[in-house]
Amino acid sequence: MQAVLDSLFSPEEEPYILSCMAYFMMFMAFCSFIALLKLHVPYGRYASSTYGFPVNVKFAWFVQELPAILVPFLLVFSTPAAKVSLLPNQLIITMYFCHYVHRSLLYPFLIRGGKPTPFMSFALAVVFCVYNGYMQVRHLSHYAEYPEGWVTHPCFILGSVLWFFGWIVNMHSDHILRTLRKPGETGYKIPRGGMFEYVSGANFFGEIVEWAGFALAAQSAQSLAFSIFTTVVLSSRAFSHHKWYHEKFDDYPKKRKVLIPFLL
Ligand SMILES: NC(=O)c1ccc[n+]([C@@H]2O[C@H](COP(=O)([O-])OP(=O)(O)OC[C@H]3O[C@@H](n4cnc5c(N)ncnc54)[C@H](OP(=O)(O)O)[C@@H]3O)[C@@H](O)[C@H]2O)c1
Repeated sequence: MQAVLDSLFSPEEEPYILSCMAYFMMFMAFCSFIALLKLHVPYGRYASSTYGFPVNVKFAWFVQELPAILVPFLLVFSTPAAKVSLLPNQLIITMYFCHYVHRSLLYPFLIRGGKPTPFMSFALAVVFCVYNGYMQVRHLSHYAEYPEGWVTHPCFILGSVLWFFGWIVNMHSDHILRTLRKPGETGYKIPRGGMFEYVSGANFFGEIVEWAGFALAAQSAQSLAFSIFTTVVLSSRAFSHHKWYHEKFDDYPKKRKVLIPFLL
């Protein structure tokens, strides 16, 4: 792994490359924001054959998310990762791994009746997971420096609490969606319980809070870029689903907000 990286750029250039990657992700978040004002992401209930042939949904989630663990795993265990012995770096890397171990090794196999993923969405997700996995974990394992006592700083504590709360809400909400369907069913029902009592995009709300907390704890351009990108992509999904629910179900709860409880 180190030999591959050495063939691409020198160790002196890498921090600059990692910063450029973060700013490019922020730029892509802005472009996505503009594009998503007009387009539906072509997946699930909005899937369309114009975005490539359909890929089995479990296979797609497993394969597309796997690089988000494999690339960081290789970076931490097969390259001289100078910062992984430091407590703040260890804890923030652990947050990242907790999320992706669940997302790539458990979530795909729990899906019930999910619609196939168009090849284009699948391919873009693979690219994103390689790019983001390298950017987050290379920065944390090799370059990120935190002041003495960072783990007791209010930003780290609040960020960690938000990360944990968001992660639990995300997994719980995905569980609620999953159990709406009996084995073999593929249709849609009104989600009830948990954060779905407050917002249509409860799983998205959880994930947005999760990565915002991660960014607060990690305090880097890389984590901020990921948080912004996630917020753009998932808030668009929440707005689309909310509108779709209102069109599909006459008895959809009128007081339920889109994404932020009581507010939006
Ligand atoms: N960090 C990021 O940038 C990012 C990007 C994308 C996704 N994610 C995360 O990945 C997870 C899944 O995302 P998603 O966009 O696929 O979520 P989703 O649209 O809410 O769908 C999740 C699963 O639940 C099913 N489902 C949704 N609503 C349902 C309903 N009303 N009745 C019955 N089944 C329903 C879907 O089936 P169908 O496939 O049949 O619709 C799908 O299998 C979420 O936790 C999300 O936060 C993160």
